[in-house]
Amino acid sequence: MGKKISCHFVVFLTCSSLLCVLKVAVAGRVVPLLQGYEKGSYGYSRSFNNIFDTSNYGTVQLNNGLARTPQMGWNSWNFFACNINETVIKETADALISTGLAKLGYVYVNIDDCWCSIRDLKGQLVPDSKTFPSGIKALADYVHGKGLKLGIYSDAGAFTCQVRPGSLFHEKDDAELFASWFIKYHRNKWALKLVGHSLHCPIPGKGVDYLKYDNCFNLGIKPKERYPPMRDALNETGRTIFYAICEWGVDDPALWADKVGNSWRTTDDINDSWASMTTIADLNDKWASYAGPGGWNDPDMLEVGNGGMTYHEYRAHFSIWALMKAPLLIGCDVRNMTAETIEILTNEEVIAVNQGEVHPLSVGLLGAWGVFHFVEGRKVYSSGTDGCLQVWAGPLSGHRIVVAFWNRCSKAATITAGWDALGLESSTSVSVRDLWQHKDVVEDAVASFGARVDAHDCQIFVFTVHSAYHSEI
Ligand SMILES: *[C@@H]1O[C@H](CO)[C@@H](O)[C@H](O)[C@H]1NC(C)=O
Ligand SMILES: *[C@@H]1O[C@H](CO)[C@@H](O)[C@H](O)[C@H]1NC(C)=O
Ligand SMILES: *[C@@H]1O[C@H](CO)[C@@H](O)[C@H](O)[C@H]1NC(C)=O
Ligand SMILES: *[C@@H]1O[C@H](CO)[C@@H](O)[C@H](O)[C@H]1NC(C)=O
Repeated sequence: MGKKISCHFVVFLTCSSLLCVLKVAVAGRVVPLLQGYEKGSYGYSRSFNNIFDTSNYGTVQLNNGLARTPQMGWNSWNFFACNINETVIKETADALISTGLAKLGYVYVNIDDCWCSIRDLKGQLVPDSKTFPSGIKALADYVHGKGLKLGIYSDAGAFTCQVRPGSLFHEKDDAELFASWFIKYHRNKWALKLVGHSLHCPIPGKGVDYLKYDNCFNLGIKPKERYPPMRDALNETGRTIFYAICEWGVDDPALWADKVGNSWRTTDDINDSWASMTTIADLNDKWASYAGPGGWNDPDMLEVGNGGMTYHEYRAHFSIWALMKAPLLIGCDVRNMTAETIEILTNEEVIAVNQGEVHPLSVGLLGAWGVFHFVEGRKVYSSGTDGCLQVWAGPLSGHRIVVAFWNRCSKAATITAGWDALGLESSTSVSVRDLWQHKDVVEDAVASFGARVDAHDCQIFVFTVHSAYHSEI
């Protein structure tokens, strides 16, 4: 009998420690985000952990396995608004492939408002028959066939912002409908051999899709009450669906939404202007210590390529969004981009600041182990009139720091980052790489580094920290 008990005990121990290992591997949030930056090692100073505070990154999260890195893709709203149809969506999917954007990680093809016309008598949402005559399922199959993912849109209210049916109180039905479209069918080769003709078999749990959930006509019910039911309904479908909360930052979602969604909008809608973009960057910055793998602050989609800002302003927009670990959702017409727009959106070094050095497509395979640096960058220093000469920075893996010099003044100026603002000991030496010029500019900077920056431009660098400890090995 004693033998039996000890046997069970051993089994119990083995199981629970195995569970522990699995849990750590899957839930990135258990691991402190700033692990490995202890004072003294690698030339970081005591203030490093305060400057890049991550203490508000929650201990409980949605934990559906998605959003290990911020989402990347395209969304129809910023360029097309309500003027969408299945042709545009298909041509966009084609263009994401032909331009090489998909290979860089832009894989979500997200349909925004206006795809739906009515809710039928059975209570089911019906795609607009004029603009989406083949239905959304056919579109999902087309997009999946290209190796991309489809995103859909709905609203936590009675209607969407363009007054189409909303999902409030219909969460279960709508989640089931979305999930049914997202099921990927493929020809099962074994079945084909066995029965001699093609069989279409669903692959449960494969392929991942997306819901953007808006906030119009919300009947005055608190977001905290309206957003969880859709989370639960999506979860119950058994399909892993990226849940992007879009409640415009009205109820400080960073404080609660990590348990609800994979990303949460922190602000009102962006528009294609310098004033909007800069305002939104500052509002989003406030919540930097709350974001991390599994749940990201969302300062809204990119306007790069839509014509309302200059080349330098768009470069700044893209640099700062990448550094803030914002979703990189392209908002222009990717079927018709200028060379400058392509240059900005395909800057692999800037994308790597946002996504980590591991290729985004491989993160799914490696899980938490594939992700090394996911602290949201932030504004760390400003000077000049109204603080318009700014330094933004964030820790990266491999003892590197991303540093952006953002000149929001109206004249060219020199911006300098002192090591105290970056949390480095003044004697620490770093090498500096410029991510827009694609070259190493300084081998051995000590105490500070400065550069001339045009008005409204943003230069973005990666600092690699050399330390005594490092050179000893
Ligand atoms: C689809 O939408 C695009 C963009 O708004 C428009 O140019 C095109 O004419 C539309 N096509 C059809 C068939 O409605
Ligand atoms: C549903 O939620 C549970 C608990 O958080 C999670 O483990 C599971 O992966 C979720 N499933 C889906 C399909 O999102
Ligand atoms: C764009 O946003 C800015 C800043 O929030 C605002 O001042 C401006 O009125 C907006 N423009 C439009 C066309 O909505
Ligand atoms: C392509 O974009 C340019 C502006 O960059 C615009 O003038 C032109 O009309 C667009 N062409 C099409 C076919 O949309």
